[in-house]
Amino acid sequence: MQSGLGWREHFVAPASTLAKLAPGATPLTHHLGVLGGTGFTAYVGLLDIGRPRAGETVFVSGAAGAVGSIAGQIAKIEDCRVIGSAGSDEKVEWLAGDLGFDAAFNYKTVPSAEALAEAAPDGIDIYFDNVGYDHLEAAITHMNDFGRIAACGSISGYNSVDPAHPRPGPNNLAFLVRKRLTMRGFIVSDHGERRADFRTDMERWLAEGVVRSRETVLEGIEQAPAAFLGLFNGTNTGKMLVRLAPEE
Ligand SMILES: NC(=O)c1ccc[n+]([C@@H]2O[C@H](COP(=O)([O-])OP(=O)(O)OC[C@H]3O[C@@H](n4cnc5c(N)ncnc54)[C@H](OP(=O)(O)O)[C@@H]3O)[C@@H](O)[C@H]2O)c1
Repeated sequence: MQSGLGWREHFVAPASTLAKLAPGATPLTHHLGVLGGTGFTAYVGLLDIGRPRAGETVFVSGAAGAVGSIAGQIAKIEDCRVIGSAGSDEKVEWLAGDLGFDAAFNYKTVPSAEALAEAAPDGIDIYFDNVGYDHLEAAITHMNDFGRIAACGSISGYNSVDPAHPRPGPNNLAFLVRKRLTMRGFIVSDHGERRADFRTDMERWLAEGVVRSRETVLEGIEQAPAAFLGLFNGTNTGKMLVRLAPEE
């Protein structure tokens, strides 16, 4: 069973609010990640908001995370050139090695604007934004005319939300006009009509091996706070999960 009730070891809920998962070869954890909400977010954000065309260049920030790693792989399936940013050399190696990204950089050791100038000399057509702020500013600088920005999240600002002292946004928004860019925020739960397409495509891509998923699993509900905080310091590669009890 899958529920959206939050962290707990047991619950009672009306059957109508739950989804029964068919037993099969698919690991159950996939339903929480690549076949669940984060995979669906990547699918909608890249395909419907980004609207990729073959040959275009796509930049994904937070690229080694649950959403970003899948968004980048879908962009490869769409025959795009894909650049990813992540916060460690190991993650960068995973992106450029196992996942087949065309380029990847560690934003902690090289400024994003510098890395993008090198990795995307012909500019970016789509930016899948998981991070916001400095990444967004760097992406806007390197966007091509008529580029699209899929605004998925702004994780670099989640811990600095002080209404009295808002974090400054990108200083180059004037480029939105000059470059005729489209920047569109989206929330995955608004796109339920695409869920069936997503399931069909993602199950096929997983079976074909053209999408790979990785999970970082912590053991025991007492690890839930560490798992949550780990999202903000990059502890996870791929989907962060907490296993409540050993699998039967
Ligand atoms: N729009 C929607 O419907 C929707 C749905 C789900 C998620 N989201 C958003 O999608 C984004 C990714 O979510 P996720 O679940 O896939 O999480 P995730 O990417 O698996 O985990 C978060 C990652 O963000 C990176 N990060 C943390 N602080 C950062 C900072 N200051 N600067 C740059 N990178 C930072 C870390 O990786 P590094 O090691 O690379 O720093 C961390 O591993 C989030 O912004 C989330 O809010 C949106």
